Parts: sequence; structure tokens; C-alpha cells
Amino acid sequence: MSNNKINIHLIAAARPNFMKIAPLYHALKSQEWVEPVIVHTGQHYDLNMSDVFFEDLHIPEPAIHLGVGSGTHATQTGKVMMSYEKVLLESKPDLIVVVGDVNSTVACTLAAAKINPYNGPLTSDHGRDRRPYVGHLEAGLRSFDRTMPEEINRLVTDALADILWTPSADADENLTREGISKDKIQRVGNIMIDSLEMLRDMIQAQNTLNDFGLKPQAYGLVTLHRPSNVDSPETLKNLCKTLIEISKKAPLVFPIHPRTRKNAETFGLFAELEKAEHLLILEPLNYVRFMNLVFNCRFALTDSGGIQEETTYLGIPCVTLRPNTERPVTVSQGTNRLGTLDDLEETVDGMLAEKIRPECNIPLWDGKTAGRVVNSIKDFFY
Ligand code: UD1
Repeated sequence: MSNNKINIHLIAAARPNFMKIAPLYHALKSQEWVEPVIVHTGQHYDLNMSDVFFEDLHIPEPAIHLGVGSGTHATQTGKVMMSYEKVLLESKPDLIVVVGDVNSTVACTLAAAKINPYNGPLTSDHGRDRRPYVGHLEAGLRSFDRTMPEEINRLVTDALADILWTPSADADENLTREGISKDKIQRVGNIMIDSLEMLRDMIQAQNTLNDFGLKPQAYGLVTLHRPSNVDSPETLKNLCKTLIEISKKAPLVFPIHPRTRKNAETFGLFAELEKAEHLLILEPLNYVRFMNLVFNCRFALTDSGGIQEETTYLGIPCVTLRPNTERPVTVSQGTNRLGTLDDLEETVDGMLAEKIRPECNIPLWDGKTAGRVVNSIKDFFY
């Protein structure tokens, strides 16, 4: 590696992160002046929660793997900080790019923010004699719900980051309201759409539907993993009951997150889910196979951030089973709506009657976000 190149760590940790770093990795790799290095914290470690995404997204094995695994919030965050601090001291990057809102996002940000000053010289000519800069991709999103671990992660990360790349106007407003200098905020659009567009042909060529005996636009896709939906026995029991009821009207496909499966098993609910005739429980799928299910579904029921955005982009009706969303643009300008368990059946009835798939025209959700981030990084250093 040339000493003149800007040395950038791209931090990946959990399933939704891989789709966010991939387009940026590819865009940076095509530039002479920069050396991107993928760092995997190991927050998600199951093959089908991690490795398959690297393959799909054509990104190399992580150059650095922290292997932290699961734990309570403090344990997981602390372990990432401790391991990443060592890496920072050794490899002295000029910039670290963190994405999204998972525990590793805040942990790596904290480690980098607190490491000032380095002992000894930096590896490149561009970093000044100080800590590495932190760029946060997908900055500024707020649910205003501090019971969500992700909201805490977003607030802390944004307070410390040096460059804040936002996906939408509401995010810019949130950051300015919190007193973050306008100079640090750059609206670049939605990086997830870059992955979707990069792999659109491959997604459409998948046989996922046939493999599971599904018909296009004739099923609902379910993904649920938030602690608020799946950690309490009572809530999860009601949720399973409601899903089984809905599946009698429209078949449901549910690639189940390990957290949800574990809880359903512990609470004695899994067997009932599995035997429901029109509810298909699947293992988590790789990106292109999963997106094939998204492209072809009639509607989605979710608590995931990414799926709210992907369905909005594709014009697919979506219910988000949460009292709030940090992605309000998917409700105000997209196909998303917030729902509760009590009104879910009724909401699904309404969605089944909906015909039109409106075009998404949220500014900068265009598959070109990675290029804008690259330009922003170049401007920052040169
Ligand atoms: C994490 C993120 C969440 C994101 C989600 C996407 C935080 C606070 N949460 O939630 O924002 O939407 O990822 O998936 O960072 N587990 C496995 N195999 C794995 C990974 C996890 O079995 O590969 C199990 C763990 O042992 C744990 C549970 O799943 O019991 C939760 O994992 P964790 O990474 O703590 O949080 P997620 O629920 O995945």
C-alpha cells in the first residue's frame, strides 16, 4: 500500500451493514488515491447472517476480523471498543466509515474518537497528527424513542462523527436541531438503493419463488426481530397468533431472524408457527434470494429499517410493526405505514385492496450514493 493513499476502514458488523459498505467499497476501490479496508466486528457471525452477503455483494473477505460475537449491550459494545482500539493503534487509518445504527457502529466511533493522540506517525501523509476521522453513513435518522438501542447508537455516533452523510432532508433537520454544524452534514442519498440497483439483474434472475412454491404478488413477506416485538413472551405469542390468522387470507413467508427463532423456541411458540399451513418459515436468506422475495411480494410486514426503504423504493405496500420510525420519509413519501398488532389484520385487508404501485421519487435515492460519498471524502482530504 502506498504511503500516499488515504487509508479508510469500512466497518461492517451486522446483516444490514454489509449492503451499505459494499457499494462504497467498490466505488473507493476504483480510485487511485484511497485504500479501503473492510473491518468485520463479528457482531453477526452465523454463515447465513454474514458470509453469504460478502459473496453476493462481491466484496472480499474482511481484512480485519474482530470476532466479538453476541453479548449484552455493554458487553458487545465494550468488546468491540477494546478489540478495535488495538487495530486502530496498529493500522492508524485516516478515516473510519461507520454505517447504520448497530452496537458496533457506536463502539468503533467511540474507540476512534477517544484514541487521540496517536503515538508515532500516521501511515499516510494525509491524516494530521491526531485521531482518525469518523464518517457516519446514514446519519441523522431519529425515531425519538430512546428505549430503542439503535436510537442511542445513532445519537452518540452522530454527536462524535466528523462527517455526517444523510439519506434525506429530515435527517439534516434532526442534526441541525441537535446543534451539529452544517459544515459536517452532507446529503448523499440512500446507499441501500445502490446495492439493490447494483444487483437488480441478479435479484430478478433468482428462482426463490419457484423454490418455495410461491406466486408473484400473491404472498406477504414477514421479517421481525426488534426486541420490542420478539423479546416478551406475551407480545410474541400475540404476534404469532395474528400472523397465523393473516396467513389464512394471504400466504406469508417468514425468513426468521435468529433472535426471533430463539425466543419463539424458548417460549414454546415455534412448533405452532411451523405447522401453520399457509405460513412458510425459512432460515435467513442471502441478499439476492431475499430481495427476490421482496421484489415479488404483495405486501411486507416488518420491523426492519432497510425493508421500509426497499419497499418504498419498489412501491410495495409495507406495514412497520412499531409505534415510530426513524425513516418518516417512507411514510410521508413512500408506501410504508406504522401498525400495531391490534389493527394488523385490518391493515392487511386494506393493503390487499390497494392496486397502485406508486413510483418512488425521493431525491437522491437513485443508486448513485456511493459516488457522492467518494467525492465527499476526496473533498475532505484534498
Ligand atoms: C442487530 C442490531 C439491529 C439490526 C439487526 C439486524 C444492535 C443493537 N442491533 O440486532 O439494529 O436491525 O442486528 O439483524 O446492534 N445471533 C445469532 N447469529 C448471528 C447473530 C446474532 O444467533 O449471526 C443471535 C445472538 O446470539 C443474539 C441475537 O441473535 O441472541 C441478537 O443478536 P444481536 O447482534 O445482539 O442483535 P440483533 O437482534 O441481530
